Amino acid sequence: MSSATRSTVTLHLVSSLDGFIARKDNTVSWMDSSDVYEKGITDDGAEVIESIDCYVLGSRTYEHALELGWPYGDTPTIVVTNRKLPSTRRSVEFYSGDLKRLVNDVLAPRYRNIWLVGGAVLGQSFLRLGLVDEIRLMVAPVTLGSGLLLFGDSGIEQKWHLKNVVGYKNAFVELWYGRQSKESKEDRI
Ligand SMILES: NC(=O)c1ccc[n+]([C@@H]2O[C@H](COP(=O)([O-])OP(=O)(O)OC[C@H]3O[C@@H](n4cnc5c(N)ncnc54)[C@H](OP(=O)(O)O)[C@@H]3O)[C@@H](O)[C@H]2O)c1
Repeated sequence: MSSATRSTVTLHLVSSLDGFIARKDNTVSWMDSSDVYEKGITDDGAEVIESIDCYVLGSRTYEHALELGWPYGDTPTIVVTNRKLPSTRRSVEFYSGDLKRLVNDVLAPRYRNIWLVGGAVLGQSFLRLGLVDEIRLMVAPVTLGSGLLLFGDSGIEQKWHLKNVVGYKNAFVELWYGRQSKESKEDRI
């Protein structure tokens, strides 16, 4: 078995109920919930975060993360960009070029649990190329009405297998899907 078959790319995003991942002005207070779901669980996600081997980000998500306060710790992070961006942290590498090559040749040999954490542009590119193995979508109890759409028009239809649903005390719901496909990663190389 090649290392490419052992790695998993998970697209993880927080979405509003009406499918937006960011407000037009980029403020993030919509992610604060005052709602309570009594049957929900409380979990700080530490165990999941601990299991992540590397993060992949689009450059706009990277720039916003720097502004907000770096949430990825020292975990290796690859920022996809065509620009020459200043290096800010030792854990950050920049990548420009073919995304299939990024996953199959750069990431898969080094990392097992790869988390693509946005934004919409990069997530849609990965989906279009069939590079996403799992989707973990955290749905916030709010409709935003406008903003940056999560999925937009990726141009491909794909069936997904529901792996888990978790309702949280703060009324967020996590939907966790795995790709349903006969095609293996090796077919795509
Ligand atoms: N709710 C959430 O979970 C969540 C998660 C992440 C981000 N966000 C929000 O989403 C917004 C940013 O998302 P976004 O969709 O505007 O941008 P993005 O996907 O973060 O970044 C887009 C940029 O990534 C680079 N890029 C993307 N695909 C590429 C490719 N195939 N080849 C080379 N470079 C590529 C380009 O960078 P260059 O222009 O530098 O070449 C492009 O301009 C921010 O507001 C952020 O806060 C929300």
